[in-house]
Amino acid sequence: MNEYGHTPETVVEHPEQIPGYTYGGPEAARSPLTLEDLSRLKAAVGFTEEDTAALHRAGRILAERAGDMVTAWRAQLREQPWLAGYSGHPDGTPNPAYSAASKPRFDRWIIDACVRPLDQDWLNYQQEIGLRHTRAKKNATDHADSLDHIPMRFLLAFTAVVITTARDHLAAGGAEGAELDRMHAAFTKSVMLHVTLWTRAYVPAADW
Ligand code: HEM
Repeated sequence: MNEYGHTPETVVEHPEQIPGYTYGGPEAARSPLTLEDLSRLKAAVGFTEEDTAALHRAGRILAERAGDMVTAWRAQLREQPWLAGYSGHPDGTPNPAYSAASKPRFDRWIIDACVRPLDQDWLNYQQEIGLRHTRAKKNATDHADSLDHIPMRFLLAFTAVVITTARDHLAAGGAEGAELDRMHAAFTKSVMLHVTLWTRAYVPAADW
């Protein structure tokens, strides 16, 4: 348990108890997109029912590893001085309170990316996460002292790290061969869908 009283069990079993996690609730943003828009994006990324099934299997492996995955990703973000001020204080020094407060939501995202149905609640929360990376809502949830906007170029660039390192975690959790390929392909599509939706908060509607 950390100083905020979160345990891995909270993240897995009771996400509704994670502070600031407004998935499915009235506080979350409304997505400007419709389910029809979403079905076109799913088609564009090549997302199928097989991917849904493979993601559920991947989720059983990644749920146990989510905390470690986010810890490792954040270490990478801290190591690059030009990125440190977005998760730390504006001058790049560590901000442990902000890190601890936001981490359970990031951990939970890995599970959500594998198991949540891609419905209107999911669509809405992707808009919310996008906004929370921009000056519209960054820092607000945790009242954090940190830079107020993560440039879109870094959001997109870091996607490569999230996708490639997930394969190592699937393998470490026992996946191998064609099944590892299958789960990793599904996770890749899922991450691309998520991050693409998050960019909606950055880009004028007509350009997006
Ligand atoms: C593919 C890349 C990325 C993924 C998958 C990702 C994922 C997430 C998720 C799931 C959350 C929690 C949203 C919530 O409140 O429920 C989050 C928040 C956050 N992320 Fe990212 N992120 C990415 C890129 C980045 C980058 C590049 C940085 C920093 C340079 C960053 C810094 C943060 C910070 C500081 C928060 C807390 C935002 C707040 O104040 O509410 N993220 N991220």
